[in-house]
Amino acid sequence: MAPLPSLLASALLALAAAASPSWLAAVRSSDTNGAYSTCADTTVQRSDGFSFAIAFAARTAFFFNSTQQLSPCDSRLSLSSSGSQIAVFRPKVDEISLLTINTSSFSPDTSGGYMVAFAGRKYAARSLPAFVANSTYTVTSFTLVLEFQKGRLQNLYWKRDGCSSCSGNSNFVCLNNQDCALKTSDCKNRGGSVDCSLGIQLAFSGTDKHFSVLNSWYEVEKLRQYSLYGLYSNLKDSLTSQYNKIF
Ligand SMILES: *[C@@H]1O[C@H](CO)[C@@H](O)[C@H](O)[C@H]1NC(C)=O
Ligand SMILES: *[C@@H]1O[C@H](CO)[C@@H](O)[C@H](O)[C@H]1NC(C)=O
Ligand SMILES: *[C@@H]1O[C@H](CO)[C@@H](O)[C@H](O)[C@H]1NC(C)=O
Repeated sequence: MAPLPSLLASALLALAAAASPSWLAAVRSSDTNGAYSTCADTTVQRSDGFSFAIAFAARTAFFFNSTQQLSPCDSRLSLSSSGSQIAVFRPKVDEISLLTINTSSFSPDTSGGYMVAFAGRKYAARSLPAFVANSTYTVTSFTLVLEFQKGRLQNLYWKRDGCSSCSGNSNFVCLNNQDCALKTSDCKNRGGSVDCSLGIQLAFSGTDKHFSVLNSWYEVEKLRQYSLYGLYSNLKDSLTSQYNKIF
């Protein structure tokens, strides 16, 4: 088993203290999950931390023999030799979090332009590759759902809003009826004026190892117009609210 590519994207985990209901605060305890490697297998309970990672590479780099999409934890993918970048995160299970990846010294388009979220090895879960950027367009705003069953990660998927969060905003182009994209030439790392750092909104669904229902989805819906992005004033220009039409 080869280790993960060692390159680290300059990633900042921004755990936002979203308004949690008081009953949740009452049962909140510490992190009992001892698995810190993103390629370790684990089961979690609410309030645990959970390690996962996002790999940036060309779309084809996530496929073995051109056909089979493997987890980046699988050594049959030679991601480390393909110039990929890895960002590692440890959000708290069932807390709404906004992950940000600062692009002032990292250009997703030159790292292949696609990203895959993944965790686990024997019980490997990975998302489909999501388009992030090429020399023409950059997508800055994403929602990632981590789906657990009995505390084990089953699935990671990108939730799209059909461009409703940027409709009518002339700074954005709607790609494939699913992603709001900026022109890459508008980005600061290309001499433009917009901070094209990536924002990834997390939500948890399913059940933890005590069969407690993970319902940050419910909170996301309840919060509606309230946006974590508002807390990151320098992201406001480039990130559109994911809360408007999340379902
Ligand atoms: C990969 O694909 C080639 C050509 O299609 C095939 O000959 C080979 O057996 C495949 N390798 C594996 C490990 O599936
Ligand atoms: C990214 O980093 C640069 C340089 O440190 C900083 O000026 C900028 O505000 C950061 N952007 C975000 C979104 O944090
Ligand atoms: C960039 O991506 C968009 C959307 O997938 C595509 O339409 C366009 O042709 C790509 N441009 C380049 C230069 O690859």
